[in-house]
Amino acid sequence: MSMIVRRLSRAATAGLVAAAALTAAAHSAEAADTLGSAAAGQGRYFGTAVAASHLGESDYAATLDREFSSVTPENEMKWDATEPSRGSFTFTSADRIVDHAQSQGMDVRGHTLVWHSQLPSWVSPLGAQDLRTAMNAHINGLMGHYKGEIHSWDVVNEAFQDGGSGARRSSPFQDKLGDGFIEEAFRTARAADPAAKLCYNDYNTDGVNAKSNAVYDMVKDFKSRGVPIDCVGFQSHFNSNSPVPSDYRHNLQRFADLGVDVQITELDIEGSGSAQAADYTKVVEACLAVSRCTGMTVWGVTDKYSWRSGGTPLLFDGDYNEKPAYGAVLSALGGSGGPGDPGDPGDPGDGASCTAMYTRTADWSSGYNGQVTITAGAEPISSWTATVTLPAQQSVSSLWNGTPTWSGNVMTVRPSWNGTLAAGASTSFGFTAAKNGSDAAPTVGTCTAS
Ligand code: XIL
Repeated sequence: MSMIVRRLSRAATAGLVAAAALTAAAHSAEAADTLGSAAAGQGRYFGTAVAASHLGESDYAATLDREFSSVTPENEMKWDATEPSRGSFTFTSADRIVDHAQSQGMDVRGHTLVWHSQLPSWVSPLGAQDLRTAMNAHINGLMGHYKGEIHSWDVVNEAFQDGGSGARRSSPFQDKLGDGFIEEAFRTARAADPAAKLCYNDYNTDGVNAKSNAVYDMVKDFKSRGVPIDCVGFQSHFNSNSPVPSDYRHNLQRFADLGVDVQITELDIEGSGSAQAADYTKVVEACLAVSRCTGMTVWGVTDKYSWRSGGTPLLFDGDYNEKPAYGAVLSALGGSGGPGDPGDPGDPGDGASCTAMYTRTADWSSGYNGQVTITAGAEPISSWTATVTLPAQQSVSSLWNGTPTWSGNVMTVRPSWNGTLAAGASTSFGFTAAKNGSDAAPTVGTCTAS
């Protein structure tokens, strides 16, 4: 009954939702490149995990709405959140996320139906038959509520043991129902929402190893027996103990070759600066190289709310500034260079302009400090982009009041906090360069503004 009410009320508001989505689409077509629009240019989605509790924070919502084309509820669709006691479903927080996403024309990934973690305490004491009934009822309850509204569901999450064995992980489902619980969950899910892509999702399966081999064998078996599976999710939580594997692309491709889509579902990479940016580039390039890699999701909008916030693993810092990793992802996605790019015909800043002027502000035998002053033209601007080409030997060790991205020895600098300038007003960024034997001055290219 509640399912029907929800679907009717969605239908009644469909006109409004469609109007809002149109506004969002028109906005992003006019604006300069964002992660979502650049990924769309490659036929992919670019998503983020979202927490309902942060949607009221204006910078959080603005960054989310501007940059991303898909959302995954970080916790709100998990079993403990949606069916805390048997048979009584609560969708309030998950609905907030789904409604928000739809009002912005974003897709929603469903995460997750059957998982050993974040499981309410009533589930594990159940006997085998009862557990099977409860699992299927949970899948039907969730998928029924969101029928037709979820592009992909993580049907089963993390069912394989970590480490070298390739065995299944112990869980109430595995221990009581055996290997067959996964197949049963996928069959139930297919019937519950035939339009949703059904994914198996796991971590430490990003490269070729015993665990990913075991998942591979399962998917191969499912495909050969007609068990419904459409996609495999690679969580991709990386740090120094678990770096981006060198065979990442190869691993994605071998799964794709089984006849499933692959998705990067929970990407985060601990670190900072250019090293973190380079790792993000590797991940995006791997996905783009695999035609069945249909999209990527980062596990949060801002470092400050990351589940691994100490490792600053995301694309925006705690103040929602774009990190070097952001620029790296945008350019790996073929982004045209952000706000004010002259290639953006409908750019709102068509009348906006700026100039960039270089001065050397300090000099010593092995290095120097450079400063680039950005001055707005006859109209106020909300952002600027300046390129600085360094002599080949020189290298930049630090940069302030700007956010650099690199291509060879060309540094593209965008604002960190100082994008907005009144007509004729100025700001500047500075950097320290090592001469490495060349005392030549860098060349500053055209400044673009929006
Ligand atoms: C994490 C969330 O980010 C945290 O907020 C929560 O406390 C624990 O779960 N693999 C998954 C995700 O599939 O659901 C996990 O999300 C991270 C690891």
